[in-house]
Amino acid sequence: MPAPFAAIAVTRLSHTFESRSGATTLALSDVSFEFPAGRVTSIVGPSGCGKSTLLLILRGLLAASEGEVRFLYGAERQPGPPPRMATVWQSFNLLPWRSVLDNVAFGLELGGMGRAEREARAQDAIRAVELGGFEKHFPGQLSGGMRQRVGLARGLVMQPEILFLDEPFGALDAQTRLYLQEQLSALVERSGRTVVLVTHSIEEAIFLGDLVMVMTARPGRVAATLEVGLPRPRGLDAQKTPRFGQLFEEIYGLLRDEVRKAMLERI
Ligand SMILES: Nc1ncnc2c1ncn2[C@@H]1O[C@H](COP(=O)(O)OP(=O)(O)O)[C@@H](O)[C@H]1O
Ligand SMILES: [Mg+2]
Repeated sequence: MPAPFAAIAVTRLSHTFESRSGATTLALSDVSFEFPAGRVTSIVGPSGCGKSTLLLILRGLLAASEGEVRFLYGAERQPGPPPRMATVWQSFNLLPWRSVLDNVAFGLELGGMGRAEREARAQDAIRAVELGGFEKHFPGQLSGGMRQRVGLARGLVMQPEILFLDEPFGALDAQTRLYLQEQLSALVERSGRTVVLVTHSIEEAIFLGDLVMVMTARPGRVAATLEVGLPRPRGLDAQKTPRFGQLFEEIYGLLRDEVRKAMLERI
């Protein structure tokens, strides 16, 4: 039996950045939340509210100033060590001198996996994002959307129990974004793994998520958690349903004031 996917329980998490000059920024304040196992949780919130900071903490790359992150396994929700995790960042950080295949296999190579096995696994991941035939291309020869799919394949190839996506489609044009959202939706439905998706798009949060966590302006707190409740598999016509419209209005209502606050702070 495959290992059960992990839930992430976050309790009273706060984080303060301190600069060398002594200035402090409270980025997150008292965040408590549970990211359920095997489901997709979308996080939306105004720019600068601490979304990326939260991902860094969940991923174990940043130690929170206060609070706790635990990983819970199985129906009994037994605490355990951190599972295998992978992140797809907004800037996909592809290595320009390596082919698509070698970019996707890079993490496995760092982990010491032999060539034949890592290339076979990379091929599977490349096929999963529909880039079969482009293995020998270099990042400079690909469109933005294709490069982002390479970034996604690089996360998938690690077969993570938890996949983090930090505004993965932010830099793409609207059509490419729509197409990748559809692909990602099909991928997460097939894999059934725990996914945490940070996005500034309300539509994307609803379309891809099972749950939507809405954050306040900085310092980021949990403003609300909504259950999406749209059936899967979801196609783009899910966006035309009354439920989608209702969720959109609710989330936009929550974000409006927060976005205004965040904007005023920057003027
Ligand atoms: N390394 C850092 N040092 C100091 N301040 C930081 C650092 N990283 C982020 N911040 C600040 O913390 C806040 C939250 O940042 P971030 O998590 O990147 O926001 P988001 O991803 O929601 O846009 C912002 O005000 C940002 O300027
Ligand atoms: Mg961010």
